[in-house]
Amino acid sequence: MSDRSLNNKSIADERSVLNLDRVVFIGRSLSEYMWMFNLDLTSFKDLEILDCPSGASSFVAEASGEYNVKKAIGCDLMYDNDPSIIEKRGKDDLEYMIDRLSKVPDFYDWNIYSNIEELRRARASSLRKFISDYSKKGMVNNSSKKYERYVKAILPNLPFNDKSFDLVLSSNFLFYYHNMFDYTFHHDSILEMLRVTSKEVRIFPIQKPDAKIPEYFETLMESINKHMNKKISFRIEKVKYDFRNGVNKMLVLNRDE
Ligand SMILES: C[S@@+](CC[C@H](N)C(=O)[O-])C[C@H]1O[C@@H](n2cnc3c(N)ncnc32)[C@H](O)[C@@H]1O
Repeated sequence: MSDRSLNNKSIADERSVLNLDRVVFIGRSLSEYMWMFNLDLTSFKDLEILDCPSGASSFVAEASGEYNVKKAIGCDLMYDNDPSIIEKRGKDDLEYMIDRLSKVPDFYDWNIYSNIEELRRARASSLRKFISDYSKKGMVNNSSKKYERYVKAILPNLPFNDKSFDLVLSSNFLFYYHNMFDYTFHHDSILEMLRVTSKEVRIFPIQKPDAKIPEYFETLMESINKHMNKKISFRIEKVKYDFRNGVNKMLVLNRDE
């Protein structure tokens, strides 16, 4: 864990950290994804990527648009709603998150965003880009093949065939909302992400809001490897995206076959 974890506060007490009472429908930008997942703009262009859950992130819109990746699809349990409903939920959740966060600013590192207003602007900009793309139903032509970029999915199930993607990205959901989803949910969701990728799954963060890795983490990795016939290797990488002090660890799972 980072030395800066929780600003060296002696109270590693979750009650003092941002505690949300629901999974918020907000989202980050493509450049924030590069930081969270240790990716770079050249290496991901030839990939078929699933962002899961994608929320109000502009990753898929930007990746399919200006960055022209081979394929980028986002899924989320909200994606069968009209754009107006999604937009309202995104705006409401952004204000809710900002309100909660403004009560505990010391638990954040204000280098990435210099203040709360800048954070709000960044999240609002991602929401706008996402809504604009989602409103067009996210249809693109890719080598004469049309596909929908925004697909409704409710984890731990995904409506995709085995090995449909090269890379599955999952941010700010698993592990972080540890108090809302149990071990079995994490186990089954990660197995499902591994099923739909041919190569790799990346999950950020693997820490709870207090920057601690859940106690069951090793058991979880062992069980997942067993279920995948011991054909999984994993590593933990420290990433540059360290906004919530010390919450900077990403899990990379590879299918060894
Ligand atoms: C905080 S957002 C993460 C968005 C994006 N990955 C990011 O890092 O900015 C979490 C998302 O999880 C979605 N969600 C919650 N439970 C889910 C489930 N069981 N299956 C699929 N999505 C779910 C919510 O709708 C929400 O959009």
